[in-house]
Amino acid sequence: MTTPLPSPAVLGARAFAALAGLNRFTDEPGKLTRLYLSPSHRQGAEYVKGAMEVAGLTAFIDAAGSVQGRREGVTPGLPAVLIGSHIDTVRDGGRFDGNLGVVAGILAVQAIRDAGVTLPFALEVVAFGDEETVRFPTSLSTSAALTGRYDQGWLAARDADGVVLRDALVAFGGDPAGIAALARKPGSVKAYLEVHIEQGPVLEAENEAVGIVTAIAAQGRAGVRVTGEAGHAGTVPMALRKDALTAAAEMALALEVIAQEHDRAVGTVGVFRADPGATNVVPGAVDFTIDFRAPDGETVASMDEEINRRFAEIAARRGVGLTITPYSRGNAVPMDEGLQEAFATGIARTGSNLTARRLASGAGHDAMEMAKLCPSAMLFVRCEKGISHSPLENMTELDAGIAIRVLIETILELARREG
Ligand code: GLV
Ligand code: MN
Ligand code: MN
Repeated sequence: MTTPLPSPAVLGARAFAALAGLNRFTDEPGKLTRLYLSPSHRQGAEYVKGAMEVAGLTAFIDAAGSVQGRREGVTPGLPAVLIGSHIDTVRDGGRFDGNLGVVAGILAVQAIRDAGVTLPFALEVVAFGDEETVRFPTSLSTSAALTGRYDQGWLAARDADGVVLRDALVAFGGDPAGIAALARKPGSVKAYLEVHIEQGPVLEAENEAVGIVTAIAAQGRAGVRVTGEAGHAGTVPMALRKDALTAAAEMALALEVIAQEHDRAVGTVGVFRADPGATNVVPGAVDFTIDFRAPDGETVASMDEEINRRFAEIAARRGVGLTITPYSRGNAVPMDEGLQEAFATGIARTGSNLTARRLASGAGHDAMEMAKLCPSAMLFVRCEKGISHSPLENMTELDAGIAIRVLIETILELARREG
């Protein structure tokens, strides 16, 4: 080795500096909002590409808008270990969700390069662009481009302003016709590793800096449209109204009850828009989203049935129209046992005070999609009060550094296994 591996403290300082650089790019000044294919997404992608090049990766922004970087192993063209996460954010999101994992991958490759280590596999880092799926009704589309499961129908999806995904992708500098060619050949990717903040309270409560993800929860998402009759707020008697908003509100409350009735399930209405949206008009139509999750696919399927049944009953009773358009449905995804063990070894080599705490993920991740291509695993990192999808999202520099050091040690462990 030419340079010793950096300490967690040094890696953490590097990570926070890189995150500060990346998080200058936002669609809304004063907040961190970096939606898929927005101008700030392009700027962030350029920044990440530059950081990858500094770290010794050959990098490009791909046809779907992800940034991909590669460092060859002992001989060119070997199968790769991919390290990834995403650089899109929710509106007014946190600094670490996704971004930490991308920066962690880049800094791990840089440290391995500086240490003069040549690996028996290539190392790649990918900064996905559509994990949050807040702008378009897609489902992990940029990672699906790599797994070969990109749904070409997504290109016709529209955002809330009516912008078509295909047009947004072209404006971004992407290439709709080039997406199919991004699919990786089976066997060309040995493993996918993702570092991510926990987004929950478990590690903090147990005083653990990092933990190993066992499985990612099952989830369903749909867009719901309720149509009633717009009318004068002062003249239409209550008994004669077909108020789309009160019907939709009853459905939102029904979702809350359905989630409470199922074991460890959650249900959320995150978007709710009334049309025409005037003080003195009975709402004629409402569009809202539903997101429902549970540790297993059977529970999510049962929630789905209940949602359809109860929403239809509310619509019939109130005399309004109802359309439910599902756009994402995923079973629970177990993480690869062998890679979980490799993370455990990486944790043990990083510090004797660390334990390999195992925990499940309630949040969705690109690893759910990548697991369809190759063995995949995730390392969670403690965050403050479990808060995420919020500007209050926070973590310590040292925890970030510990996670990156664990990632490096895990990559070295995978190399050792190749013997
Ligand atoms: C992604 O952050 C999700 O919604 O779980
Ligand atoms: Mn995320
Ligand atoms: Mn997120």
